[in-house]
Amino acid sequence: MGKVIAIDGPSGAGKSTIARMLAERLGFVYLDTGALYRAVALLFLRNGLRPEDDDATLTSVLESSEVRFDKGRCILNGTDVSEDIRTPEVGHYSSVFSARKVVRDFLLGVQRKAQAGSDIVAEGRDTTTVVFPRAEKKFYLDASAEERAERRFLQLKEMGLDVTKQKAKSDVVERDRRDRGREIAPLVKAKDAIIIDTSNRGVEEILEDILGIIRSDP
Ligand code: DC
Repeated sequence: MGKVIAIDGPSGAGKSTIARMLAERLGFVYLDTGALYRAVALLFLRNGLRPEDDDATLTSVLESSEVRFDKGRCILNGTDVSEDIRTPEVGHYSSVFSARKVVRDFLLGVQRKAQAGSDIVAEGRDTTTVVFPRAEKKFYLDASAEERAERRFLQLKEMGLDVTKQKAKSDVVERDRRDRGREIAPLVKAKDAIIIDTSNRGVEEILEDILGIIRSDP
């Protein structure tokens, strides 16, 4: 079993950027678990599935599909969907479908398989609590709602999408509410996770903080 560093937190807290850079610095494999939930949402949308569909319908599509995260890319049934999963629509449905047990069970196996034999930095909503409860180090990244909305707004603008700050904020708030409020594996801070507030701080500074914590207690 390899080492695991797990990072959770709400959307827009900076998890992806920090986790990717941390993995690079440590020479670990980076696992973006949100990308897997997004790929499943894309799969369902492409198959015309809706949130009101029953478990058996979702399962039948999942059982004939393969989703994985490999070298920073998200692969769905052999095709790289890394860009396709970044739309606001897929983001919304990934949060909606992630509340379903059949989806979480399916992706639990995918995530644990990604760890087999590798040292990894995993990030998401339940990597510190459910997926890797025995992770060597756990972090909970957070930032003010304003700052998280601003980051989401800039991300969407960069993708060339026509979005207002107001809409970016309402999306972030709605997604958080759903991710924290669901019954199975909701977003919570693990008891043994270290809180890192990323508000008004640069990436390098945050990274140095985290590396310091990891190195001080190997
Ligand atoms: O991190 P992200 O925005 O790419 O994640 C998309 C959605 O996937 C998020 O709103 C909730 C879900 N998700 C989850 O339920 N559990 C995870 N470990 C990661 C993401």
